[in-house]
Amino acid sequence: MALSRKALVTVALAVLLLCAGCAEAGKKKANPGGRKPGRKPKPSNGNKPSKREPDVLTVTAAAALGLLNAKNTTFLDIRPEADYTASHIAGATSLPKNLVRQAINTGKPKAPPAGKNILCYSAPAAGAKPTTATDESIATCLYFKTSGKYPDIQLYALAGGFPSWKQAGYAVEP
Ligand SMILES: *[C@@H]1O[C@H](CO)[C@@H](O)[C@H](O)[C@H]1NC(C)=O
Repeated sequence: MALSRKALVTVALAVLLLCAGCAEAGKKKANPGGRKPGRKPKPSNGNKPSKREPDVLTVTAAAALGLLNAKNTTFLDIRPEADYTASHIAGATSLPKNLVRQAINTGKPKAPPAGKNILCYSAPAAGAKPTTATDESIATCLYFKTSGKYPDIQLYALAGGFPSWKQAGYAVEP
């Protein structure tokens, strides 16, 4: 009886020792580089981790032309309707920026389809910097993202707006 008790204690000790060993091994496995915990691992290629893609990508007129030709992007002219009527990117749809939210929420005026990507473009006010058109397009196009009704598409903003398209000599109508 006494002997078997001693044996039991020995076995228990052996198990304890073994377990300590395997816990140590487990730790090593989880931290193969032997780095101090709490430190971010560096990417192996030495580059900085890529930043998250912005929700609205800014594109040049040339890139926008590529999107237009690929026929999977609705071009939204978010300027006042009178400006659209005077001249716009060939194939673009008019949806003034102050009506975008209403269109998304009520369908009146008609909202762009959810199955295609959307490019928003504007124009700088007289005398304003071209970037004001870009910023306005980004802000307006973001409504599609925040609405949650366009989960799978890519949003674009035309850098510099309509003037940059005209300057590049691409098709306008009428
Ligand atoms: C068109 O764009 C949508 C949204 O990004 C995408 O899901 C779909 O696969 C595209 N279709 C084609 C034919 O590229």
